[in-house]
Amino acid sequence: MDEPSQLLKNKRIFLLIFFFFLWSPPVWSIENNECLDCHGDTSLVRQQSEGMKEGLYVNNSQFILSVHNINGITCVDCHADIEKLEMDKDVPHATSLKSVDCSKCHEAEAKAYVNSVHKKAGGKGITIPCYACHGYHYVSNLEAESVIDRENGFCLKCHNPEKFHSWLPQMDTHFNFVECTVCHAENVPLFVNLRFWDFSKKRFLSGTEILTALKTNSTGFMPLIDKNKDNKIDADEFEQMVFKLRENNVFGTFHGELIVDLVPVVHHVNRGKANRECEQCHNPISPFFEDVVISLNKEDGDTDRHVVDRSVLSTYYVNHFYAIGGTRVRLLDKIGVAIVVGGISVVFGHLLARIVTIPTRTRRKEKEKEKKYGF
Ligand code: HEC
Ligand code: HEC
Ligand code: HEC
Ligand code: HEC
Ligand code: HEC
Ligand code: HEC
Ligand code: HEC
Repeated sequence: MDEPSQLLKNKRIFLLIFFFFLWSPPVWSIENNECLDCHGDTSLVRQQSEGMKEGLYVNNSQFILSVHNINGITCVDCHADIEKLEMDKDVPHATSLKSVDCSKCHEAEAKAYVNSVHKKAGGKGITIPCYACHGYHYVSNLEAESVIDRENGFCLKCHNPEKFHSWLPQMDTHFNFVECTVCHAENVPLFVNLRFWDFSKKRFLSGTEILTALKTNSTGFMPLIDKNKDNKIDADEFEQMVFKLRENNVFGTFHGELIVDLVPVVHHVNRGKANRECEQCHNPISPFFEDVVISLNKEDGDTDRHVVDRSVLSTYYVNHFYAIGGTRVRLLDKIGVAIVVGGISVVFGHLLARIVTIPTRTRRKEKEKEKKYGF
């Protein structure tokens, strides 16, 4: 062994010993069960003020499924100021604990969050902590969720987007298939995730259900579908997959939902910076559609993302949300034509003016239709 690596090894051993002594044993010895002896009891409440009670119950069966528990984070990793439990006392720990510091473990996200209208609202006395969006005990693995569950649900807790997007036709369809941050977070990497809409069940199938319908499982999926073994599902292979679903009496269509990559810059939401250029998305060569995947959530809550060739987007099996001609949406045909003609902004001004003036009554009718078709 040469000298530098020996040195490195010694240094590592030294660091290990050093950290072992830094790590105070009582902290790691507190297990979740000890907390749940009390906090697992639904009746544990504390009197806030006259007539006001605060629940102190933590639902362990939900906590177990959280991304934190799955990654080995325990109660005291977050409630880090509880160093020991003094079980001879009524309350075995301090009654006013420090607030949990998410940034201790999520430094990059906390840094990105500084550049956002939400963090800046602090200047006006409005504090929006991380958990206003994410929750805390039951934070889910974001990848496995649909647009609505992944994110739009968080934003809708505080905003009513119907107010601000009257220029956007088929608002509900967009909100079902486009994450808020796709338009609202600057420079965030995007991709298209294909989801399968089952005609008879009238809902999207989960990854597990797709696997079941294909009579396979998460390890068997790629060997079954990716015949040429290039780790990518190309248009032919995709077609074969659709046929296999049909053979098993599962009929439906794929929808492309536009989602953001899970990176810290998703937190860069600011005022007046949003994207509203229709042609950025409704355009067959949109840079947004570089990356196409199909996500299959596994039994253990984790997700496999399989790369799909983008040519699949213009096949018959995917709802054509940008293709020129042959689609069921006349408006989009016009958008397509407009792109080809090139005079996009002029045509668009006109189109938009028309859209905006559609009476609300018609829009309501459209909504009913959307509901009927399952959006
Ligand atoms: C013997 C029962 C018991 C055990 C064990 C226990 N707690 Fe508590 N905990 C309580 C009670 C009672 C309160 C309410 C205290 C009060 O009256 O303000 C409380 C309050 C809390 C609060 C709210 C504190 C605040 O600042 O508002 C947190 C957080 C908490 N416990 C976390 C934990 C964690 C984490 C553990 C395990 C390391 C744990 N508790 C173990 C009984 C318990
Ligand atoms: C991912 C971090 C995280 C983990 C893990 C975690 N907590 Fe919490 N907990 C929080 C946050 C954030 C709050 C909200 C108030 C605050 O900042 O302390 C909170 C609040 C609480 C409260 C006050 C009542 C409430 O629900 O608001 C109790 C009691 C509590 N936690 C107990 C527990 C117990 C028991 C566990 C382990 C089973 C646990 N926590 C695990 C972050 C966490
Ligand atoms: C003790 C360290 C620790 C603390 C404190 C902590 N987390 Fe986490 N968090 C993790 C780990 C580890 C993961 C799983 C690995 C990953 O995705 O980074 C995770 C994952 C997440 C995810 C899911 C990311 C994804 O890719 O799906 C979110 C969201 C999240 N944490 C939010 C929070 C919030 C909000 C708080 C504060 C209430 C918090 N975390 C506090 C360690 C922590
Ligand atoms: C205004 C709402 C909001 C607030 C506040 C917020 N987040 Fe997020 N966070 C999001 C959204 C939206 C995503 C992307 C989720 C998606 O697309 O599914 C995200 C993603 C994440 C992820 C996964 C992506 C990654 O970088 O790995 C983590 C971890 C996370 N947030 C932690 C935090 C922490 C820590 C804070 C506080 C400093 C915080 N968030 C505050 C909305 C918020
Ligand atoms: C906890 C409530 C809360 C959540 C959740 C939330 N916001 Fe906000 N948001 C606010 C508040 C409060 C402001 C105004 C801040 C100010 O006045 O400076 C704001 C401001 C904004 C603005 C600037 C325009 C305006 O009206 O001031 C945009 C855009 C925005 N939010 C988008 C989002 C998106 C996208 C999400 C989901 C990722 C989200 N918000 C989640 C509370 C929230
Ligand atoms: C197709 C792109 C797109 C989508 C999807 C979208 N928005 Fe917007 N949004 C915009 C544009 C463009 C504006 C106009 C103001 C601007 O430029 O920020 C706006 C305005 C807003 C405003 C008012 C901002 C201000 O500056 O006054 C809020 C709040 C908001 N959106 C929240 C949301 C939420 C919540 C969602 C998800 C349910 C969402 N948006 C989805 C493009 C979009
Ligand atoms: C950020 C990307 C994005 C932007 C910007 C955007 N759209 Fe969309 N649009 C989508 C997606 C994704 C869908 C749903 C695709 C699906 O159903 O599979 C959609 C659906 C539609 C639909 C319904 C199509 C159908 O098949 O049901 C219409 C109409 C539409 N958009 C028009 C517009 C117009 C007009 C604009 C500009 C004012 C616009 N869109 C801006 C991404 C976008």
